[in-house]
Amino acid sequence: MTDQTAESDQLQAMYEALPYPARDPEDERKRLVRTGLDFLPKISHYCHGGRWQPDQPWRALVAGGGTGDSLIFLAEQLRGSPAELVYLDFSKTSLDIARRRAEIRGLENISFLQASILEIDKLDLAPFDYINCSGVLHHLPDPLAGLVKLKQLLTPTGALGLMVYARYGRTAVYQVQDLMRLLAGTADQATKIALTRKMLDALPDSNWFKRSPDLHTDHLQHGDAGLADLFLNPIDRAYSIPELYAWLAEAELHLIEFADHKLAYDPALYVTDPTLLRAIQQKQKVEQQAIAELISGAIIKHTFYAAAQPRPPARLDNQTVPVAAFELNLPRLVQTISQAARGASVPIEKPGARINLPVNPISVGFFKYLDQGKTVADLAAILQQSPGLRAASAAWVKDQVLALCELLARAEFIYYRNGR
Ligand SMILES: C[S@@+](CC[C@H](N)C(=O)[O-])C[C@H]1O[C@@H](n2cnc3c(N)ncnc32)[C@H](O)[C@@H]1O
Repeated sequence: MTDQTAESDQLQAMYEALPYPARDPEDERKRLVRTGLDFLPKISHYCHGGRWQPDQPWRALVAGGGTGDSLIFLAEQLRGSPAELVYLDFSKTSLDIARRRAEIRGLENISFLQASILEIDKLDLAPFDYINCSGVLHHLPDPLAGLVKLKQLLTPTGALGLMVYARYGRTAVYQVQDLMRLLAGTADQATKIALTRKMLDALPDSNWFKRSPDLHTDHLQHGDAGLADLFLNPIDRAYSIPELYAWLAEAELHLIEFADHKLAYDPALYVTDPTLLRAIQQKQKVEQQAIAELISGAIIKHTFYAAAQPRPPARLDNQTVPVAAFELNLPRLVQTISQAARGASVPIEKPGARINLPVNPISVGFFKYLDQGKTVADLAAILQQSPGLRAASAAWVKDQVLALCELLARAEFIYYRNGR
């Protein structure tokens, strides 16, 4: 047995014993877990120019689907559509949890496969329009081989939704992993888990992991499964921005856009000094992203869409329908801005993004009518009839709506839906 096969067997055994993330299928009766990569309007915005809609045939694969978060969110959104979903994982216990979650919800649009990504080319699967592979490839003995196999399963217009670990944000995690290898490398899993918990409690304030308590919470949120996934993973690698682009280039893939905390890759989020900012902005975009990653120190994963060909971003024009990000609580936001003084600003936020929204008749009306299927032109026409805007020209109102869309889309508070 090669070292790689032994590690891969250990990895499979770990996810059999500790399915990740820890989920109780019964919770499906109470709540829906929504995963950032898999919001359909967002996939359409970044990967299909905003033109794909769920009433069209579509095939999606969730590779290394774990206990089913992405799968269930996709399947819920695709309920009643002609789309087909395939779930694949080599952990039977994870698959059973994912399947039970789907059963409880009465979701019937999924096929379940217990298999390895490394064998996926032998399964004779039809090509996919979307492949989600989140938190998986960095655990393969050969992540590039896995990435290439997934890419080969895409339709010509298909895209990948990927998450891999980020190097610098996980610095402290790798120190604890090294520590636990030295301390308990040959112990059984239960002993390793017990010793890791004791060690975490014993860490002094000087320790790097102790210095960044806000960055890593898996061990707190997901019990033993979270702890093992974070600190005891037999195969675990991370990518800096240059490493990420080099890896994708080897697979002949293009990074379409970062999804989730996309603003964190812009140095302007951290740097305001004009001289410094000018020096940074003279660099290529990828270098700027690498600089942002180093400045931030808090990017712990890279979540992004990729495809064989670059994809133009969804366009914004009169016929674009803005769609709210699922993280926005629209009723609450409408109430807050309706009650705020005109001319003030209110913060709107979601994980990784925050903007100060100017309160004026445009923003108040925009959010009131958002997510009712209205185009930019429809919204501008409605807003122009509102008391504060009757004196304004139609062109001015429309420009204001377009500018607001741009502001909101940049921080991923809305996505664009365009005609087919
Ligand atoms: C950290 S979990 C992520 C689960 C899920 N993607 C999510 O984001 O919630 C990694 C999953 O990948 C699966 N996995 C790892 N290597 C695999 C392989 N070679 N083939 C199939 N599944 C694999 C594991 O069994 C585990 O369920």
